[in-house]
Amino acid sequence: MAKARIAVLVSGGGTNLQALIDAEKSGKLKSGSICLVISNKKDAFALQRAANAGIEALAITRKSCGGQEGFEKKLIEELDSRDIDLIIMAGFMSILSEDFTRHYDHKIINIHPSLIPSFCGKGFYGLLVHEAALAKGVKVTGATVHYVNEIPDGGEIIMQKAVEVKEGDTPEVLQKRVMEEAEWIILPAAAEKICAEIIGGK
Ligand code: GAR
Repeated sequence: MAKARIAVLVSGGGTNLQALIDAEKSGKLKSGSICLVISNKKDAFALQRAANAGIEALAITRKSCGGQEGFEKKLIEELDSRDIDLIIMAGFMSILSEDFTRHYDHKIINIHPSLIPSFCGKGFYGLLVHEAALAKGVKVTGATVHYVNEIPDGGEIIMQKAVEVKEGDTPEVLQKRVMEEAEWIILPAAAEKICAEIIGGK
């Protein structure tokens, strides 16, 4: 049966991209295939991970497109010319406009490293999320996969997994535990669930 065509948007190290690549290899992600990786940073290690896996990878920066509007126009061109069914934001550190998210209604998902609605929205990304969780003194945190709409981290929740905060955690230690125990598990699982729905409805 035909698979859903996935594009992954990245900005950095790409460990969540790697989890998706590994899931496709092992067959956990069987209803979708990663066809394209786009980074908004030229030097993102995620681009190397894509190349190592033989996946087409592009670096498209806002600067090279003359600003946000040109950047989004270029993204749409590249995505639509490849008939992408599902866009996965995996550590993609750029907020997309309402025009963009409307163009792909219920076709974009994102992984966020907290239990939404805690520690999310504008300004909460990467390590800052874990710093905020530790500053608040929460005993449980986690990760969330959600649909992307015009509100940062505000779209419908698809999957969540809780992770324990331990005495003496630093933001780095907590980030690693949240990735290992939650992000790298629920992102491929959510991708499979949605891809199965896409190919079921095609
Ligand atoms: C991940 O923890 C991801 O959840 C987070 O950035 C990290 C990227 O790591 N994303 C956000 O904070 C988005 N608001 P990775 O490049 O190794 O996947």
